[in-house]
Amino acid sequence: MRKSYPKEVFLNGQWLPHDQATVSVFDRGFMLGDGIYEVIPFYQNKLFTPDEHIQRLKAGLAEVGIAYDVDSLKTTASEAVVRAGCNEGAVYIQITRGAAPRTHYFPADVEPTVLLYAFHLSLGGFEQKLVDVILSEDFRWHRCNIKSISLIANVLANNFAHQQGVLENVLIRNGLVTEGSCTSVFFVRNGIVYTHPEGPHILPGITRNLVILLCGEMGIEVEEKAISVNDLPFGDEAFLTGTTMQVTAIGSMRIGSEQLVVSTDVGQVTRRIQQAFIKRIEAL
Ligand code: PDD
Repeated sequence: MRKSYPKEVFLNGQWLPHDQATVSVFDRGFMLGDGIYEVIPFYQNKLFTPDEHIQRLKAGLAEVGIAYDVDSLKTTASEAVVRAGCNEGAVYIQITRGAAPRTHYFPADVEPTVLLYAFHLSLGGFEQKLVDVILSEDFRWHRCNIKSISLIANVLANNFAHQQGVLENVLIRNGLVTEGSCTSVFFVRNGIVYTHPEGPHILPGITRNLVILLCGEMGIEVEEKAISVNDLPFGDEAFLTGTTMQVTAIGSMRIGSEQLVVSTDVGQVTRRIQQAFIKRIEAL
């Protein structure tokens, strides 16, 4: 299905019809993938966990030395939701280093390019889904904690999954599961929830962190420990988390020619987490 463009976008301080919003061909986002992005979900016209997303954006910009004060963006994101006129979806924010003659080093005196818009996304019903995934090698860089717009490795991984007829590609680095091409990954075994620890090999997912918090509130034990691909057959449940997939159960995993059925129904622990997550949304 071809997706549609948002009606209007916020570009460098101005709201513009999407077809009138343009940037220089010398923008370093376009030329070098030199920028940071964020995706904030909204439900019932309200931003969900906006402060956490803005904080991660701020941290990402600091990591790559782009000087931009993000504090006003929460208000702009709320305005985008109103302007988009849909109940649920996400706000996309992208900040690049700006336009300058091409160099590999940071150019002096550039103004960052700031783009923001809201778009519709169907966010309901995730708790009824079971997604199939494939597993393949994590060939991304060693600073995956930065939400960089240079997403070619994630694009290749995700597109490979789609070519195989599944939604997500779960990545393996040195025999350990890191995360999905655009999601965090959790496993459940004997009632304990496992996910890769934060660090340079995963994005510190906002949904991931909320799930860990919710588990704490419910007394579900969480171990932030990477799971070996060899241990996958011994897991009881597995699920993906993220802004676009929320908390979605994994039905099956394909590793090479091997098909591993995780579950034919959403597992008990996953279901409890989903219910707690839905409660959070309802409390907005
Ligand atoms: N992706 N890991 C990766 C590599 C991601 O790209 C994402 C999010 C996540 C989940 O993070 P969060 O819970 O903060 O959404 C984990 C976004 C949605 C995207 O690229 O569109």
